[in-house]
Amino acid sequence: MTNITHPAPNFSLIEAKALAASHFGVSGSVGSLDSERDQNFRLSSEDGDWILKVVNASEPRGESEFQTALLDHLAGSGVDLAVPALKKTLDNTSLAFAAANDGTRHALRLVSWLPGQPLAEAERSPEALDSLGRALGKLDRALQGFIHPGALRSFDWDIRRAGASRRRLTHVGDANDRALLERFLDRFDAQVAPRLPGLRAQVIHNDANDWNVLVDAADPKRVAGLIDFGDALYAPLIAELAVACAYSILDTEDPIGAAAKLTAGFHAEYPLREEEIDLLFDLIAMRLVTSVTLSALRRQEAGDNPYLAISEAPAWRMLRRLDAMNRSFATAILRHACGFDAVPGARAVTAWIAAHAKTLAPVLDRHPATLVKELVPYGDPQHPMTVASAAQEPAKASAWWDAHSAEHGIELGIGPWGEVRTVYASDMFQSRFIEQERRIHHLGLDLFMPAGTKVRTPLAAVVKSVEIEQDPLGYGGLVALEHAPEGCPAFVTLWGHLAHEAASRLKPGQRLEAGDVVGEMGVAAQNGGWAPHLHFQISTDTSLSAREILGVGEARYLDVWRELFPDAADLAGIPPETFVQKGRSRPEIVAARKTSLLPNLSISYSEPIKFVRGEGAWLIDDRGRAYLDCFNNVCHLGHAHPDVVEAIARQAAKLNTNTRYLHDAIVTYAERLTATLPEELSVASFACSGSEANSLMLRMARTHTGRSDAIVLDWAYHGTTQELIDLSPYKYKRKGGKGRPAHVFEATIPDSYRAPADWPVAEHASRFAESIAEQIAAIKAQGRAPALFMAESIPSVAGQVFLPEGYLKEVYALVRAAGGVCVADEVQVGFGRVGSHWWAFETQGVVPDIVTMGKPIGNGHPMAALVTTKEIAATFNNGMEYFNTFGGNPVSCAAGLAVLDVIERDRLRENAAGIGAYLIERFRELQTRYDIIGDVRGMGLFLGIELVEDRKTKEPATALARRINDGVRARGVLIGTEGPHDNVLKMRPPMIFSRANADHLVSALDDTFGEVLATR
Ligand SMILES: Cc1ncc(COP(=O)(O)O)c(C=O)c1O
Repeated sequence: MTNITHPAPNFSLIEAKALAASHFGVSGSVGSLDSERDQNFRLSSEDGDWILKVVNASEPRGESEFQTALLDHLAGSGVDLAVPALKKTLDNTSLAFAAANDGTRHALRLVSWLPGQPLAEAERSPEALDSLGRALGKLDRALQGFIHPGALRSFDWDIRRAGASRRRLTHVGDANDRALLERFLDRFDAQVAPRLPGLRAQVIHNDANDWNVLVDAADPKRVAGLIDFGDALYAPLIAELAVACAYSILDTEDPIGAAAKLTAGFHAEYPLREEEIDLLFDLIAMRLVTSVTLSALRRQEAGDNPYLAISEAPAWRMLRRLDAMNRSFATAILRHACGFDAVPGARAVTAWIAAHAKTLAPVLDRHPATLVKELVPYGDPQHPMTVASAAQEPAKASAWWDAHSAEHGIELGIGPWGEVRTVYASDMFQSRFIEQERRIHHLGLDLFMPAGTKVRTPLAAVVKSVEIEQDPLGYGGLVALEHAPEGCPAFVTLWGHLAHEAASRLKPGQRLEAGDVVGEMGVAAQNGGWAPHLHFQISTDTSLSAREILGVGEARYLDVWRELFPDAADLAGIPPETFVQKGRSRPEIVAARKTSLLPNLSISYSEPIKFVRGEGAWLIDDRGRAYLDCFNNVCHLGHAHPDVVEAIARQAAKLNTNTRYLHDAIVTYAERLTATLPEELSVASFACSGSEANSLMLRMARTHTGRSDAIVLDWAYHGTTQELIDLSPYKYKRKGGKGRPAHVFEATIPDSYRAPADWPVAEHASRFAESIAEQIAAIKAQGRAPALFMAESIPSVAGQVFLPEGYLKEVYALVRAAGGVCVADEVQVGFGRVGSHWWAFETQGVVPDIVTMGKPIGNGHPMAALVTTKEIAATFNNGMEYFNTFGGNPVSCAAGLAVLDVIERDRLRENAAGIGAYLIERFRELQTRYDIIGDVRGMGLFLGIELVEDRKTKEPATALARRINDGVRARGVLIGTEGPHDNVLKMRPPMIFSRANADHLVSALDDTFGEVLATR
């Protein structure tokens, strides 16, 4: 083994010149060069410049031969990097030998002088570091597979022997310095050395310090060559990089950033493995430990050697900086630079949370998505709340926030991930990685609610630590939980600023189930001195202790922190719209509607809502508040149902045409749809809206009967075209309407709740049917007969009216006897909404002649249908074509098929029946407590609650109904009011409505009833 403390050779310039001439035939002027343990001379001859290397006498011959073999190998490898070329001796060998005056024999080698400037004298720009990394990557790739017995050497610069530095600690005078080195050595012995034998090994240069790296003088950002292969050996590949980094990062403002550049450059040429990068930080430090301890030894043994001392002071400075860094974070930066997860599994954790967000237990008693939220102004350093918080005046900060929240109805304040918070002013926030830089980006998610608010774990967990951090503006009560959900790498959640009660209740190792209380938001005296809030944070690195988890990070490494400490918004169930608003504001849209849209368009609620996203039973507004949608029956399967979205997108991407060309979808859909109906109803036709379906129905009924008089129910609505307005008392009798047209006859709404008290319930059907008989008689009295009778199978606009049992049977018999056709408008109530049946008319035991359908048919895609009998279809075929440009197009049919598939596959009719029955039961329970609930009615998920001032007189409670509707909306639930007196609460939630959704609706109703009635 080479003894690196063996004295260097000591030939004179004259001797060197003579040796060059006699052995290599090169003559010219000679100068001496620095070397640690060999002796190097520069020769300038006519055929170029050379370096004569006189090798240390202690170097075994095999090692000298190894170096010449190595240079030979590189010369033949075609590596795209300048390395010294060997000049053969006059005897055509690679090595010559010379004896010194004292008789010691030295090997001699002559290599070409490489042009360029040492990196040590150039700027270590990011580009130069990248270039150096690439150069080393190329070199080592070229050396892959090269081996020589002389390479199996070991000496003090071998990274595997770095632990031997401990023996040299005695030469380090200062106790603090020794302690510093010992920390690195202890870690190396315990954690690093045992892992080195498992890493890839090969021949490496092992000394890419910045004097051995040459940059292009004309372009100092480009590494042009590498010299001095004297330390080459067979060693772990990663040592190559560790050595290069150790020198390149000295005295840089961002040493780990510099090392990351170099590493990424190497990785681009010669891909590294994660287990190699994971040791890099320690190996860089150990190279410096080796260096400073060898210097210390040298100083004692050989007096001052300027070559050895050259990097000593910067090396000490760097060791102190590395010692202050968290090695996990440094490693994360290095890993990230190479495209690996900052910590293994980091990206899988974030992806898992995003994919499972809907299944997580809410972190607050009320789901954060449903609360009115606003960002807390900590991002504004001048804001009074920020100023008060920074000045440790939490009461003042809280007072501002509480008043602001009360004024604007804010329920949850949010401090977002990544927010710039210059307010963090203490020394604690000085970066340990980057000189003169502060940590300013918030890496947690703050949830501001009153002290005492309980916070719950979204997933099962094991308590990792519980502590009380006493520092001013610290965390106060602090809990760390570890989660290991199936299919997800383990991760940690941090819960800061809690009340101290958590510390006495929780114990490390304790298991919590999803939804269990972690703690409660502490008062300022317990939470580190803040306005009450929770600092909630994820750490994908489970090895960090609660206090090591970085709450605020440097801007430069935000991408790394994003992986180590990802935004906890998904885990906390905070919709992204909370943080970023897009498009026009609500008032801007209202104003634009006024100038560019028909003023007849109405807007729900006095304070309109702007929805930006739908998801299942939920609609999310532009500020990230989720509303439970119990009103819009169009999104039958829930908003944005993936199967329908996919079916539409797939077909739209392929073909959309019209019914004049053949296509599979329309016939398949017609077969599937008619299969849900009684056998007689076997012919389908398609349109784009319920109104179009009803218009077509009208043409059919008139063509079939040759008449045009129609009987409808009072307060009915059947569509928006003029001919349907004429059939809609709800329209023609109200503002702007022209009253009942002569061909239209209105029958009484068959509303059992409002039936005369003296009618026996069993007779309601026939008593109400009398009104139809009267209308038929009235038509007849004018010398005509009815063309049609049309009714919704559950009149909706009339106030969710459920027909008395047997009513339609009697009515259909009367109408048919008069020669009219019977039409069921199932635009609102069809497609399984009633649960027990596909179609609401089936609950009456009748078969209509024509059924019209719309709204839920395409889950939001504009389409509609009409199904009729063969007979009516035949008479309608009178020679006039029925063509509807969009009706029955392939995209609509794809949507319709997907809706039928999902209803069947997910057994949504059963769900509607079960949840509907549960809701009726819960509403009835409300009815026992709230007198204003006059009637509760429903079938499946078609529901109504009728409000009355007095249960006896049944005086409609119209004003209260509006207040309840508004109050429920304020609680984040959408319902509507209907009926001639607008006193019926109308609910038509999507067919996927869950029991939890039902409970949510009932609790919003319950709270609202309580509040409204208390202030009646
Ligand atoms: C019972 C009923 N029929 C027909 C229609 C008309 O449907 P569309 O608005 O799709 O034209 C509606 C719409 O509200 C309706 O409720």
